[in-house]
Amino acid sequence: MKVGVLTGGGDAPGTNAVIRAIVRKGLKQYGDEIVGIKDGWHGLVEGEFTPLDSEAIRAILTRGGSILGFSRTNPFKFEKGVERILENQKKAGIEAMIVIGGDDTLSVAHRLESFGIRCVGVPKTIDNDLSGTDYTFGFNTAVSIATDALDRLRTTAEAHKRVIILEVMGRYTGWIALESGLAGGADVILIPEKPFDVAEICEYISHRQKRGRNFSVVVVAEGAKPKDGKVIVYSDGVDEFGNVRLGGVGYFLGKEIEKGLDIETRVVVLGHIQRGGTPTAFDRILGTRLGLAAIDLVHEGKFGCMVGIQGNRIVPVALKDVVGKRKNVSSELYEIASVFFG
Ligand code: F6P
Repeated sequence: MKVGVLTGGGDAPGTNAVIRAIVRKGLKQYGDEIVGIKDGWHGLVEGEFTPLDSEAIRAILTRGGSILGFSRTNPFKFEKGVERILENQKKAGIEAMIVIGGDDTLSVAHRLESFGIRCVGVPKTIDNDLSGTDYTFGFNTAVSIATDALDRLRTTAEAHKRVIILEVMGRYTGWIALESGLAGGADVILIPEKPFDVAEICEYISHRQKRGRNFSVVVVAEGAKPKDGKVIVYSDGVDEFGNVRLGGVGYFLGKEIEKGLDIETRVVVLGHIQRGGTPTAFDRILGTRLGLAAIDLVHEGKFGCMVGIQGNRIVPVALKDVVGKRKNVSSELYEIASVFFG
C-alpha cells in the first residue's frame, strides 16, 4: 500500500519514534511505500511530500520535533481546502493516511472520513488531554522537564526565602501541572479544572512560614483561572482552530501573592522548553508501540480509529469518541495532590 504520514499541531517529543516505527514495519512486514506529508495538513493542501524510506528514518528515534515538520493548518479554513486535499492525495497515489496529532489535527481526520479519506490517528500532545487513551506521547517528557525545573527552583527559593511560581503548559487541562507538581513536591498546584482562590493560596504559604518553611514553590497550569475570574491570555488572536494563546497567569498570581503577603515572589514561565529536546525512554517506547499499532490498523482496514493506550494495552478507539471530548483531571486525582499543599 502507499501510506501517507503527517504530523500536525504543536510538536511533542516522541513523534519521530512513531514515524520510525510506521516506516520500519510498513516496509519490512507489509512491503508498503510510505510517503511523508510536510508540515501537517498544510502539506496535503499544498501537495508537499517527501519519501519515507529506511534512509529517511536513520537515527531519528532520539530526536525531538518531527522530521516532517508541524503546523496548525486547518484545511477547512482554506479556499477549496478539501478539494485540494483530494486532488493531491490522488496525484500522490496515497491510499491511506496515518495522522499523528492532538484534538485539532484528529478532528480534521475525522471530518475528512466523509469525503472518502481513510485515516488512522495517533494521539500526540504534551497536554495529555485526549480521550480514549491514558497517555499521549510527549506528555512524559514534558512532565520530566517540569519536574526538573521544580527541583531546581526549590533550592533557589529556599536559599532566598522566596515564593517561586512555575507556569507550565497544558492548555485547558492540568495534567502537566498535576504530575510535575506531585513529582516535584510543589507546595500548591493550580489547574484549570479547579479555579483558584488567592486567599487560600496565601494561607498555604503562611502555614508553611509558621512551620519554619520560609519559602514555597507553586506550580500553575497556563489555563488555570481565579474563582469568578477569566482565563488569562497572552494575546487575543486565535489560530485556525480558534485557540487563543494562553500565558500570564503566573505573573498575575505572583502580584496577588505579594499584595497579600510580605514575601518576595518570582515567576518562571517554562514555555516551549517543555516540548523541545530528546524524548524520555517512556515516550520513545510509547511512540514506537503506537506507530506499530497504527500501521497494523491500516492493514486491518480499521479506518476512522485512533490507537490509544489503556492500561498497558494498545487498543483502537473510534475517532468519534475522541475528538471534541477533552480528558480532564478528575477531582479525585486533585484531592490526592492537595494532601501535600501548604
Ligand atoms: O497543545 C500543546 C501546547 O504546547 C499547549 O500546551 C500550549 O498552550 C500550546 O501548545 C502552545 O502553542 P504554540 O506552540 O502555538 O505557542
